[in-house]
Amino acid sequence: MFARLLALALVVVCGPANADAGGDAARGETLFQECKSCHQVGQGAVNRIGPHLNNIFDRSAGASEGFRYSRGFERAASGGLFWTYETLNNFIENPRALVSNTRMSFRGFSDPQDRDDVLAYLRQFSASPSNIPESAPTAAAVDHAVAPEILAIVGDPAYGEYLSGECTSCHQISGVGAGIPSITHWPTDDFVTAMHAYKVGVRAHPVMQMMAGRLSDEEIAALAAYFETIN
Ligand code: HEC
Ligand code: HEC
Repeated sequence: MFARLLALALVVVCGPANADAGGDAARGETLFQECKSCHQVGQGAVNRIGPHLNNIFDRSAGASEGFRYSRGFERAASGGLFWTYETLNNFIENPRALVSNTRMSFRGFSDPQDRDDVLAYLRQFSASPSNIPESAPTAAAVDHAVAPEILAIVGDPAYGEYLSGECTSCHQISGVGAGIPSITHWPTDDFVTAMHAYKVGVRAHPVMQMMAGRLSDEEIAALAAYFETIN
């Protein structure tokens, strides 16, 4: 009898962690097949091509011991990237929008339901999953992908040079300086994607949000063209 009660109590305490969750963890487990070639999660998970994903919620990015992250990822981590439902959601939607030059070559899940489900699955392998906030329904519905017509704009490097004075007070032409990342010689798509991520708030840095928020799509394209080819 006691054992039965104990078993029952355990089910209540440890039972399906997402009973009240928006995401469907069972469907998320199936979707996780797409991550499994690189990531392990659960008991005994170790780093492989990608870091293991145990306890990924509520910790700093790039903190899996013994894993060698890319420089782009280390840059984002030292810039304060922290994993919450929202930042993970943004990362899985489009890894390179959140972290320039990440080694995670994954096109992303464009369907918000897919992201919700895979995160509901991953949540079970983090401490106190029931304390991890769910997505705000509106947040998950926003489409952060950069429209192809924005990426297709061909920028004018001369105009970009004219605009760049606002940037080079912080970003050194010669490369990294005082903790401020280098933005020269980037493929224009990556540059535009990063600027757009600040503009729409996917990237959290307040100064860069303000800078990008003031620029039109044409101005961003011009800056991308200028910084790509600068000597
Ligand atoms: C082709 C391999 C690959 C696939 C597929 C992949 N990832 Fe990754 N992932 C990586 C690599 C490599 C990193 C480390 C990134 C870096 O160093 O730039 C990473 C990093 C991460 C991180 C950050 C980990 C940390 O320690 O901060 C999360 C979260 C993540 N991936 C989740 C996922 C999820 C969820 C999926 C499936 C929807 C997925 N990844 C698919 C290779 C992959
Ligand atoms: C006041 C200083 C400052 C100014 C001015 C500034 N930036 Fe930044 N920028 C930063 C910092 C700090 C970061 C790193 C932010 C982060 O961690 O997300 C950054 C990040 C970036 C990134 C992403 C870098 C990466 O490795 O992911 C791009 C692209 C960028 N800035 C472009 C620009 C452009 C273009 C301008 C001019 C229109 C500009 N910045 C003006 C400080 C500045």
